[in-house]
Amino acid sequence: MKTVTLTIDGRELQAETGQTILEVARDNNIYIPALCHNEAVAAYGACRLCMVEVSRGDWAKLVTSCLYEVEDGLVVKTNTERVNNVRRLVTELLLARCPDSEVIQDLAKELGVGEPRFTPEEGNHKCILCALCTRACQEVVGASAISLVNRGVNRQMATPFYAFSDACIACGSCAYVCPTGAIDIEDAGDTRKITMPNVTMEFKLKQCKTCGAYWAPERQLAHIIKQADLPPDAFDDCPDCRE
Ligand code: SF4
Ligand code: FES
Repeated sequence: MKTVTLTIDGRELQAETGQTILEVARDNNIYIPALCHNEAVAAYGACRLCMVEVSRGDWAKLVTSCLYEVEDGLVVKTNTERVNNVRRLVTELLLARCPDSEVIQDLAKELGVGEPRFTPEEGNHKCILCALCTRACQEVVGASAISLVNRGVNRQMATPFYAFSDACIACGSCAYVCPTGAIDIEDAGDTRKITMPNVTMEFKLKQCKTCGAYWAPERQLAHIIKQADLPPDAFDDCPDCRE
């Protein structure tokens, strides 16, 4: 790893090779909007909101800051007219896709985007196809229960065959990382209900042997027992009764 010097918005900064512009900007409290980035998973470059202008010597171009790695002598501008035009266009498209998403509505306000010129999509969904949920499910949880399917305008986030996914352990990581709240989780009685854009699934919660509370999905606990090679009764008690 080598130290490089670059400039972001006029500030001279030190960074390590391999770091992305977005990472360095965040480390230095420089704001770049980014919806499909989460440091827990590999960058994907889906939302295109993190575009910035980079230049060195006599060339300049727009790049996605979550994917572009820093270089020595790079000059980065995060807030030019060109950059903001791209972000506004992207936001307008997202707003037409997900008119009910508060996150997108807030972003539109922040960037001064009014009514989108594009026809709003039908259906009350909030999925911007950022693939954060699918990456977290695959890379962090190791379940691969969901994926992005189809192409072009038919692209969707879904479970296999839009049905109950046998690989899902009901952990809720997908809902946790989703930037727009497109996945809903509700625990009621002995059941966890996960509502995704194209499917709703229900899972049994485990009951504590001591206090009787339903406290975590049985499938998730079974997954942890298997991964960590724990005894089968490791989670018979809830965390409160284990203390
Ligand atoms: S459900 Fe959420 S995390 Fe998954 S692709 Fe859609 S917006 Fe991204
Ligand atoms: S955060 Fe870079 S493309 Fe979404």
